[in-house]
Amino acid sequence: MSTPPLASGPEGPHALRPLLDTVLDALRDGTRTRGGPLPAGGPDTIAAHMRDAVGDVLPDNGDPDALRTLVHALTAGSTDPADPLCAAHLHCPPLAVATAADLAASALNPSLDSWDQAPAASELETLVTRALAREVGAPEAVVTTGGTESNHLALLLARETHGAALRLVCGTNAHHSLPRAAWLLGLPDPVLVPAPAGTLDPAALDEALTTLPRPLLVAATAGTTDAGLIDPLPDIATLCQAHGTRLHIDAAYGAGLLFSNRHRTQLTGLEAADTVTLDLHKLGWQPIAAGLLTVKNPHDLTALHHHADYLNADDDTQAGLPDLLGRSLRTTRRPDILKIAVTLKTLGRTGLGALVDQVCDHAHTFAALVHDHPGFELHDRPTLSTVLFRPTHATDATVAAVRRKLLTDGRAVLGRAHLDGRLWLKATLLNPHTRPDDLAALLKLVEGNTPR
Ligand SMILES: Cc1ncc(COP(=O)(O)O)c(C=O)c1O
Repeated sequence: MSTPPLASGPEGPHALRPLLDTVLDALRDGTRTRGGPLPAGGPDTIAAHMRDAVGDVLPDNGDPDALRTLVHALTAGSTDPADPLCAAHLHCPPLAVATAADLAASALNPSLDSWDQAPAASELETLVTRALAREVGAPEAVVTTGGTESNHLALLLARETHGAALRLVCGTNAHHSLPRAAWLLGLPDPVLVPAPAGTLDPAALDEALTTLPRPLLVAATAGTTDAGLIDPLPDIATLCQAHGTRLHIDAAYGAGLLFSNRHRTQLTGLEAADTVTLDLHKLGWQPIAAGLLTVKNPHDLTALHHHADYLNADDDTQAGLPDLLGRSLRTTRRPDILKIAVTLKTLGRTGLGALVDQVCDHAHTFAALVHDHPGFELHDRPTLSTVLFRPTHATDATVAAVRRKLLTDGRAVLGRAHLDGRLWLKATLLNPHTRPDDLAALLKLVEGNTPR
């Protein structure tokens, strides 16, 4: 076998072109084979199809058709967030233009741990992170793999400023990655403040901040995972200021509202935070991964400074080569910023804002359908693009079973959430192409699969 071609260099585009045709054909054919939001049959059937397609994982002699076979099998066996009946998680359908940009990132393979591996990508990262940070009134941001890493980093920066006795104070509605980060960093057990209506209760927070010993870090949420709710950010910011407490806001889901003139004001208070988690692989239509953490005090980032002679030797830095190692806890790092930069510039604020408005409108449309249907109960009017609903008079076991039946039959992908002591079906609407007919079909499917 001749030496396989490379993706970059003078021959790269020539080598890639036919391979891309293969990939695109396999994506098309695999989507047809699947014929819905996810393949039917459940875990055993789908795993068996994948095993058949893979065969020998590392054969003695290579298979020139492996690209077609495996991309087809993966597509046919995937959950497709671009299908309007796929609405379970904060799992967005990526924009074609962002995905195309990601191909260039893969082909060029810049690594953001040293300037000599990423001379232009490092500048692009500086420009785009600063522009996004400005959206929340902060001077700097760093790129992460998503909300989990951003939350972890926020706690780390707070610990490095306030010491290892730092205690996290967050709502019971906070994302699980926050208490987990506290555990990972060896911090004291977090204090969980009640969130009886799905959002953090300011009176309970006030009481906690009055009585607990220092140092404390309050974490609020702008866009809860279960219900898409936004904590009362201005009240929380005022309390943190009054009690002299550091504030982190997890806006992994809600930060997308920043692009929308209609919805942006719901994020008032974000600018008061010391750190903010943003996640553009949720309400930003990016291929995974596309996380950021904004940082109000650039000095906090000195905690990440690190020396490794082969990457940022002192004399190189003194001679003017940018030192990139302190931008992340990772070493080798993909230029995830390219797809983000391309998306921001291609769509502009107006284009992105329109996508946000569309998915929020879809949530209202779906909520109205649920509300007007005698067979369903609506949890509440949507704040973001999440709708919680359940068949009237169903038990929790029935709600769970309906969700699993739709999954196993390959008909629809819905999420689940416990709220107010009951289990709800969760529709997280992130697909701007969804039509009112799709939403009606989704509700009809649930109706048709609910035992009477
Ligand atoms: C509010 C919130 N924060 C953080 C995360 C974690 O983000 P990721 O899965 O990108 O790590 C999620 C994920 O859904 C989330 O909903």
